[in-house]
Amino acid sequence: MANATTLGFYEVITFCLFFSFVVVVTQSAPENALVTQLPGFAGTFLSKHYSGYVNIDQSHGKNLFYYFVESERKPSEDPVVLWLNGGPGCSSFDGFVYEHGPFNFEAAKTSGSLPQLHLNLYSWSKVSNIIYLDSPVGVGLSYSKNQSDYVTGDLQTATDTHAFLLKWFQLYPEFLSNPFFIAGESYAGVYVPTLSYEVVKGIDAGAKPVINFKGYLVGNGVTDDEFDGDALVPFAHGMGLISDDLYEEVKNECRDNFYSPLSDTCESKLQKVDEDIRGLNVYNILEPCYHEPETPETADVKIRLPSSFRKLGETDRPLAVRKRMFGRAWPLRAPVRDGIVPTWPQLLNSQSIPCTDDEIATKWLNDAAVRKAIHAEEETVIGTWQLCTDNILYDHDAGSMIKYHKNLTSAGYRALIFSGDHDMCVPFTGSQAWTRSIGYEIVDEWRPWTSHGQVAGYLQGYENNLTFLTIKGAGHTVPEYKPREALDFYSRFLAGKPI
Ligand SMILES: *[C@@H]1O[C@H](CO)[C@@H](O)[C@H](O)[C@H]1NC(C)=O
Ligand SMILES: *[C@@H]1O[C@H](CO)[C@@H](O)[C@H](O)[C@H]1NC(C)=O
Ligand SMILES: *[C@@H]1O[C@H](CO)[C@@H](O)[C@H](O)[C@H]1NC(C)=O
Repeated sequence: MANATTLGFYEVITFCLFFSFVVVVTQSAPENALVTQLPGFAGTFLSKHYSGYVNIDQSHGKNLFYYFVESERKPSEDPVVLWLNGGPGCSSFDGFVYEHGPFNFEAAKTSGSLPQLHLNLYSWSKVSNIIYLDSPVGVGLSYSKNQSDYVTGDLQTATDTHAFLLKWFQLYPEFLSNPFFIAGESYAGVYVPTLSYEVVKGIDAGAKPVINFKGYLVGNGVTDDEFDGDALVPFAHGMGLISDDLYEEVKNECRDNFYSPLSDTCESKLQKVDEDIRGLNVYNILEPCYHEPETPETADVKIRLPSSFRKLGETDRPLAVRKRMFGRAWPLRAPVRDGIVPTWPQLLNSQSIPCTDDEIATKWLNDAAVRKAIHAEEETVIGTWQLCTDNILYDHDAGSMIKYHKNLTSAGYRALIFSGDHDMCVPFTGSQAWTRSIGYEIVDEWRPWTSHGQVAGYLQGYENNLTFLTIKGAGHTVPEYKPREALDFYSRFLAGKPI
């Protein structure tokens, strides 16, 4: 670049004008994406909201839907965070509606009316710009005109989401210099590290625009078949859900391998464990479980699954699922394994999901006026919004996430692995064990962390900025159960402060 001292006065002026002209032009969040009002909300937005589609493949008509909330503090400086719910197959509007979005949704008073939206005091938009993304295509409001795209997996999803990010930052270039983080929970324990790896590969290969990636957060995340599969028995014992005797027996018979039972006696002890815990709410053992009447099996459902999976589903009914939420999860002792990840309907051999009530989100997102306000396609074009879909056929093809975490943290990216300690779906015992197994030196030894003067959980800090953190009393979706504590650790982590 020219040395300023060699430039004449007019040249300097011209240069500066040109420069500021460029700056003005690049501050160009797409105006047609601006959300100006939302049905059900009567107040004033505390920051700007944008939403719409980003096309990632013209020939296929492959469109990913995002909802972007600017920070209510300092949008130009606060981090940008991409939020992903899991499943696979669940919409990130779970995060928006039920967890840490800018509003709390109150159920409609009468059957014909819409839910009412109130400002959320603990929204993550208090301290960050946050993008809620429906991914992969086929999930939530995202869609493709070519149905072959609904057969997908971990690696394809990571590539597609990376393509989305590059395009999104082209649309919102004023956010390129902000620190960028990727966050998610449950099956996003797979999405987050695989996408982070793609982003870093892109940065290293000189992909444009350059994303200012700093690190990632995973909550109650699916990570590794064996660690996650072995986590339930010690959790059940530690929480006082099974007896000391049964714990000793199951440990001995299974030789601490609960993930793939080696003998029939091990298997029968594990069944005793299941019997003791099956009435509990799998997403938070402190919460009541809402059992629905058994649904008659639908004979003509097209099951795309091996019979072993179906059998698992059948034997574990009725399943304990927290009202108002489900993940495309799995019955007890059937953690995610390599290969096709089944949906609840597939697992249960029926089309309905037990014990769930996602009515508020379903009603709101299928309302024509809401769809219009958020620039989403109509129901006649892309169908009904569902919290979790079984439209997609999803292959868990990236294996264990531990190699990704090692690679990313040793390359200098910061990681927070957090866990609601009363979740039985992806219990903290698994996340605690795999973070420890990486073998990093402990730099912040197991200690309580506090929020508003109270112990809010425990943490252990490792070298390379890897932190494992629990949230006391929280279930699978941490910010839903402990919104204030969640905003606290979230803010501290993003700011690079000790939690
Ligand atoms: C959908 O995509 C597949 C794979 O690219 C292609 O073979 C097929 O022709 C496409 N279908 C349509 C209807 O365009
Ligand atoms: C992470 O993976 C990339 C791509 O495989 C490799 O080039 C890089 O050296 C790895 N980094 C570390 C710190 O292991
Ligand atoms: C950990 O994160 C802090 C805050 O971003 C940074 O200053 C430090 O260099 C990081 N340490 C390592 C080992 O990457």
